[in-house]
Amino acid sequence: MNRVVVVGSANLDLGVGVRQLPRPGETVLGSDVVASPGGKGANQAVAARRLGADAVLVAALGGDRFGADLRVALAGEGLPPDHVVTYDDCATGIALIVVDADGENTIVVSSGANARLDAAALAGLPDLLGSADLLVLQLEIPLDTCLAAARHARRAGARVLLNAAPLPPAGAPALAELLREVDVLVVNEGEAAELGGDATALRHRGPAACVITLGARGAVSADATGTRTHRPFRVDAVDTTGAGDTFCGALAAALAEGAELDEAVRRGCAAGALATTRMGAQSAMPMAAELDSFLVADYQRE
Ligand code: RIB
Ligand code: NA
Repeated sequence: MNRVVVVGSANLDLGVGVRQLPRPGETVLGSDVVASPGGKGANQAVAARRLGADAVLVAALGGDRFGADLRVALAGEGLPPDHVVTYDDCATGIALIVVDADGENTIVVSSGANARLDAAALAGLPDLLGSADLLVLQLEIPLDTCLAAARHARRAGARVLLNAAPLPPAGAPALAELLREVDVLVVNEGEAAELGGDATALRHRGPAACVITLGARGAVSADATGTRTHRPFRVDAVDTTGAGDTFCGALAAALAEGAELDEAVRRGCAAGALATTRMGAQSAMPMAAELDSFLVADYQRE
């Protein structure tokens, strides 16, 4: 059993390349726009699925063309469509993504239907979680929905992995509550700083394990056995969009398979690195065979 249930967002990503990210008030010219499937929830479900997990996505789409296109794309990834609801009176979530010459990005998300994914949409979740090892959450859907989902997981005996991105404005009381229901917390450096601590300090907020991703510098993890650093995998990055989601999906797939935290983090780092070598979010995610041979090649180089 290696079921991973992801409750989260699905967006249409509109990506444009620029030489340098514009400053406030500045206009710059960019490349042609590329539309591709994204959203942190869908991304993490796709990453986990491509790496062999029995992944299921619970998400919301709008009644527009984009929603219909995303539904087809998700089905093409082998994610069962029955848990993706369509709100006909809503727009599908859209992410406006600008990528610079170094592969760095800025992202603005217009939530659309993602903001409507409420606790009532989780009616089928207890059933799904009955056979699941892991529930995976991010913060592009309402916090209350995440909290309700996490509590369902606790009751069903499934572990909860939270990628606390994007962080809500400081002081959201529901976030403190959610952290107490989390087993594995994943944040990047900026999010860790905003939450006010290193991996060990963040564990005191509730999660038994915490991973801080450091981009091109690897990751740090902490659990009851101590704190460890994980070296990065060197690649030529062209677009970091979705690299964090690929990390989380790979981490989730490995944990659901029964891997120890260290091994799961290592697979996450490798998968995330591979995802930066190609444009886009889901379009850049590796399959299990590619990840395995990348890890073997890396092992032989060391
Ligand atoms: O993490 C990357 C994702 O953030 C993009 O796919 C975009 O949709 C936003 O949700
Ligand atoms: Na990418």
